[in-house]
Order: sequence, then C-alpha cells, then structure tokens
Amino acid sequence: MAGQRVCVSDFEKEAEKVLPKAVYDYYRSGADEQSTLADNVAAFNRWRLLPRVLRDVSSVDLSVSVLGQKLSMPVCVGATAMQRMAHPEGEMATARASQAAGTGMMLSSWATSTIEEVMSAMTATGGGVMWLQLYIYRDRELTLSLVRRAEEAAYKAIFVTVDTPYLGRRLDDIRNRFKLPSHLSLSNFSSASLAFSEGNYGNDSGLAVYVAKAIDPTLCWDDITWLKKHTHLPVIVKGVLNAEDAVQAVNYGVDGILVSNHGARQLDGVPATLDVLEEVVRAVQGRCDVFMDGGVRRGSDVLKALALGAKAVFIGRPVLWGLACQGEQGVTEILELFKEELRLAMALSGCRSVSEVSRSLVRRADFTSR
Ligand code: FNR
Repeated sequence: MAGQRVCVSDFEKEAEKVLPKAVYDYYRSGADEQSTLADNVAAFNRWRLLPRVLRDVSSVDLSVSVLGQKLSMPVCVGATAMQRMAHPEGEMATARASQAAGTGMMLSSWATSTIEEVMSAMTATGGGVMWLQLYIYRDRELTLSLVRRAEEAAYKAIFVTVDTPYLGRRLDDIRNRFKLPSHLSLSNFSSASLAFSEGNYGNDSGLAVYVAKAIDPTLCWDDITWLKKHTHLPVIVKGVLNAEDAVQAVNYGVDGILVSNHGARQLDGVPATLDVLEEVVRAVQGRCDVFMDGGVRRGSDVLKALALGAKAVFIGRPVLWGLACQGEQGVTEILELFKEELRLAMALSGCRSVSEVSRSLVRRADFTSR
C-alpha cells in the first residue's frame, strides 16, 4: 500500500517505483550534465516572499483569464510527450483531470492519443480548455494539417516550440536507446516513420534520430509569420529565454511568450527560467502575455513566478508523476495539491486574488539574508 502523498516529490518517488526504468529516465532527465535541471528547481529558493498581514484572507480567488479563457487557477498542464507510457489512458486521463480542475491543458504534438480523442475525452463531461503544442516538421503540409485538426476540434491556441531544431543530448536516453514500447505510437501520425514506431533507431536515443529526420532545423522568425497566416488561433512561442528574442516575438505579432528551457532537456547551461522571467517581462512591456514553466513544484513557486510577472505557469513532470501513480485520479490529486498550496500561499501572503500579487511580494534571498 502506497504511503500518503502530500507533496510533488512523494508522487515522484512512487512513480519511480512503478515505471519501467527507461520510461522514468525519459520523463525525469535533463540534457547533458543536467545542471540546468537542478537549477530550475533551485531558482525558486533564491527568491523569498514578503507577506502582507491583516488583510482578511477568509476568501481567496485563484481564478485567472488565460488567452481569453477563464481558468480556476494560474497553473496549467504543460505539453509532455507520450503519456500512455505512464498510464494506459495517458493524455485522455490528463485531459479529464485538467477539465475537472477547471484548468487548461497543452497537448504535445507527440501525444500517444490523437488531437480528436483527447478533445472528446475532455468534452464528454462538458467544456474544457485545450491548446496544441506544435512542432514544425520539415513537411509543412503535415504541420498545417495538425493545426487544422486542432482548429476543427476547438483547441484554443497553438504553442509553437522554438527551442528544438535538434533534440538535446539526454544521456540516459542514449544509454537506454530510448524508443516507444511497441504497442504505442505518436498517434497523430499515420506512417511508422512519423509515428516514431520504426523498430530500430541504432545506437542512439531513438527520439534524437526521429527529430533529426522529421523536425525542421531551418526554423526562423519568418515561420512565425507563416504560421500566423495559416491559423486564426492565438500563436504563443514556447521556449524563449532571451529578452531580445522576446522583443522580436512581439514584433512578429505573437499572442504570448512562454519562457521555457524545455524542462532543461535541450541546452544544458542555460539559466533557470525563473531567473530570466523578469527580464523578459520587462522587455515585453505588456504587449503580450508572458507565461513560464520549469521547476514549478509547489504553490509558493507559482506565487513567486506570478510576482515576477508571469500570467500563469505550466507544470510538466509533476503531472506525469500523478499519471504514473494513479492515472486520472493521480493527475487530479496533483492539480488539487497545487490549487490548495497556492490558495494557502496567497492567503498567508495577504493576497485575495491573483491581481493582488505584485512585484513587491518577492525579494532575492541574498538581499533578505544580509
Ligand atoms: C517535455 N516538454 C515538451 N515540450 C514540448 O514543447 N513538446 C513536447 O512534446 C514535450 N515533451 C516533454 C516530455 C517530457 C517527459 C518532459 C519532462 C518535458 C517540455 C515541457 O513542455 C515543459 O517545458 C517542461 O516539462 C517544464 O518543466 P517541468 O515542469 O517538467 O520542470
């Protein structure tokens, strides 16, 4: 009998026990020496909260509007690939749990359930906010077919990933020669080569081989214009770390920026996302919404990111741990945990609504310890 799970790391410990090693390694890993992986989490400890008191916090409203959709909290489900390796219901279980929690979910292009299946799993019980994470393939018609399918299935935005012209070097995946279990495929694609279900990828991470073959490394700013021309959905660039790129993104008319280092899985040695968030927010000057992901593990982390200017945050691995532990119920528990931890952190900081979370709520830790 599993012990009581009271924080995200309890879920991770249990997930590690139930998942096959190669799957756990794929979910957990960062790139190369994984220095950024640790730093994404550690960065939250470099900031301290400076609460306000005597503010009647008997009622705290966590709701927020994200890309025109009202959500129950500023914590959304980020795109993580191949969720049916964690649980047979995979992305469909995550979608149902996200909907039940009243938040939005970003579906990976590399999902093991189709765009349509996931939407119908979500809408079976009414409503629900889905966004599509888009990889731009060398085959542009194929890429646009994903966008059209998302539009037809009533997805609400496209998050285009811009940090993956090649896959980062994830050492465990190379050692494990990572590939999908044979009963699974990237369901949005029909051919074995695009569905990542060829038998043999040689002596390497199968996914790195797949990306090198299928994903377009020529991607540049004009492709943002191209994408915007072909969809009426909001376009958000996922994977910006540099303030100059953020300004460029605004100039290219994006509807949002997701400050992300891909969960530290691409270029090792980049800063923790929390550490660059404020620079990006300043550079953007309110011209579009700024979101962040990477290392968010508790409600007070969310509060710090909001204070530094994020409109909302996305969580990646915590959802996978919930899914591995107990499918839809496990993801529900993770989302409820974030909701309750955020509610408490806001109350203890004197914030009655997300609009009351301001920059003055956080200070760098070295400042307070002097
Ligand atoms: C990811 N991420 C990701 N991003 C993306 O654009 N498309 C994808 O298919 C995936 N797949 C994926 C799989 C796994 C196992 C992980 C851990 C991550 C990155 C993801 O969207 C997000 O940026 C990070 O997961 C956020 O960091 P945390 O919350 O995992 O620390």
